[in-house]
Amino acid sequence: MLDKKIYDLINDQINKELYSAYLYVDFSYYFGGRGLSGFASWYMKQAKEEVEHAEKFIKYVHDNGMKVELLAIAKPDKTLDDDMKVLKMGLEHEQYVTGLINKIYDAAFEIKDYKTMGFLDWFVKEQIEEEANAEELISKYELYAGCEAGLYSLNKELGKREGC
Ligand code: FEO
Repeated sequence: MLDKKIYDLINDQINKELYSAYLYVDFSYYFGGRGLSGFASWYMKQAKEEVEHAEKFIKYVHDNGMKVELLAIAKPDKTLDDDMKVLKMGLEHEQYVTGLINKIYDAAFEIKDYKTMGFLDWFVKEQIEEEANAEELISKYELYAGCEAGLYSLNKELGKREGC
């Protein structure tokens, strides 16, 4: 069993991870519409990774003998009309998610819930990678996307991202 406050935060985080997936599907469609299939594929893989994050939280709830209550997923409400703005929204979103993970960690620390703190360690490390990936996309776009050939090769590179 998990403490009620920890359970509520984790149950909410499952929703936030699924929302992240939904948001990145939206990003993927935006870039697909721009003819940038590599960017579109990169974000679709990112969306799948977010579902995996939700699944890790779901398993943790189940492993603690509790049930998950799936909540409504909000509509992605960002206006996607500029490549760089979208890339920056991705970074801002990951920074927001890092804050949410830290909030759960704080709550677990407060009640000496070492089990949940240990579980969250993976997410703390993952968020370092998530923010770094988003920052790298911005830097690469700044470096290469000033000319058509640069954008073409960056798009090609992003299309090679591994994953399901
Ligand atoms: Fe699940 Fe991108 O953090």
